[in-house]
Amino acid sequence: MQPLPGFRDFLPKDCARRNYIFDHWRAVARRYGFVEWDGPLLEPTALYTKKSGPEIVAQLFNFTDKGDREVAMRPELTPTLARVIAAHDREFKKPLKWFSIPQCFRYEKQQRGRLREHFQFNADIIGEESLDADIELIALCVDLLRAFGFTAEDVLVRISDREFWTDFLREQNVPKEGWEEVLQAIDKSEREPREKTAARLGPLAERTFEILDGEGSSEKLERLVAALRDRGLAEFVEIDLGIVRGLAYYSGVVFEAFDRGGKLRALAGGGRYDNLIQQLSDGAVSLPALGFAMGDVVLAELIAESPAARRKMEETIAAEQNLDIYVVIAKEERRADALRLIQALREQNYRVDYPLTPAKVGKQFQTAEQLGARLAILFGDEWPQLKLKDLPTGEQSLVPHEELPRRVATLLST
Ligand code: HAM
Repeated sequence: MQPLPGFRDFLPKDCARRNYIFDHWRAVARRYGFVEWDGPLLEPTALYTKKSGPEIVAQLFNFTDKGDREVAMRPELTPTLARVIAAHDREFKKPLKWFSIPQCFRYEKQQRGRLREHFQFNADIIGEESLDADIELIALCVDLLRAFGFTAEDVLVRISDREFWTDFLREQNVPKEGWEEVLQAIDKSEREPREKTAARLGPLAERTFEILDGEGSSEKLERLVAALRDRGLAEFVEIDLGIVRGLAYYSGVVFEAFDRGGKLRALAGGGRYDNLIQQLSDGAVSLPALGFAMGDVVLAELIAESPAARRKMEETIAAEQNLDIYVVIAKEERRADALRLIQALREQNYRVDYPLTPAKVGKQFQTAEQLGARLAILFGDEWPQLKLKDLPTGEQSLVPHEELPRRVATLLST
């Protein structure tokens, strides 16, 4: 009776939280001028083996379909985006600002903050090579987190530049084929004992550790942070050259968002991938691109742990879910009259519920309370008058039934 390991059932309360997260993602993305798109859940496995890097490929949920095709459930959206852009390149004026909320699947070991399915908000800018696009994207990432009620005391975006490291590798005469391995070692260095990283880095270890310990500087990243300071967002970000990202396709500025307490996994991650579209389309289309994704799992954990963010979420959900009106049918002879009124009130967009089958009046009022109804309307002996009760205050009045819609409108507008 349990879901598969790493998969979730979404009971109504979980769906309400999920919708709360999605609604904020969508609202902030639209504020930034991003438009929504989506792709297929299933893709040819080759789309991922081609460029995403070993980590994601090892985590694929893949199989052979009935037509003998090697397919995989999407572990991320970026390769699909690159494919879609390459296929529809001519149809759109650049730059594009696109967002999407895919469910993604990764065959990972289930642990805190990591499941086998998750939803990811993705935002990508296609066709813009200027640093202004990187700034816009990081500002969006910060503002998404702020929309949930987080402050600079709760979250931090750590920003780095893969180009800084590839310049370093070039200087150190490391052949290009060896770059990805070094970058992966730097990516893992924070989670691993130094000796282990040193063994992976070999002769580069000493200089790399000096840089990681604060000796590196990047004029590009300084400019980026200065621009975020102009937007009032500097306290949310920090330059940290230890971030290189696990995915192989990044080529420039990269960043990851974390909780300040450092207890949770990354909330979001992304960066520039100027070569991916060209590589996946075998050179047919070449466009600079950058983007990031924010997952729902870690975000929900941080909301649950932060009192202010949690209160904001619970109040928003309650306000959205509570009924406006519960109709109490005290006399079954009045059921047809009650349903006529219910129909009329629903047509005016009120949220209205009532007992589908006969029930004791006390029980009906209990249900009204449980459903968070603001008003109760009682159909009983008083007909053609109705008893109208303001549930939070307990105030009651008798209202002729033809006047009821007007009275309801007045009460619910306060
Ligand atoms: P990623 O860092 O692999 O990047 O994932 C982005 C976010 O998705 C993570 O920070 C995390 O919050 C969430 N996430 C990833 N895997 C899991 C999991 N197994 N369980 C729960 N949450 C997870 C990418 O996917 C890139 N494609 C992002 C991107 C978009 N880059 C450019 N555009």
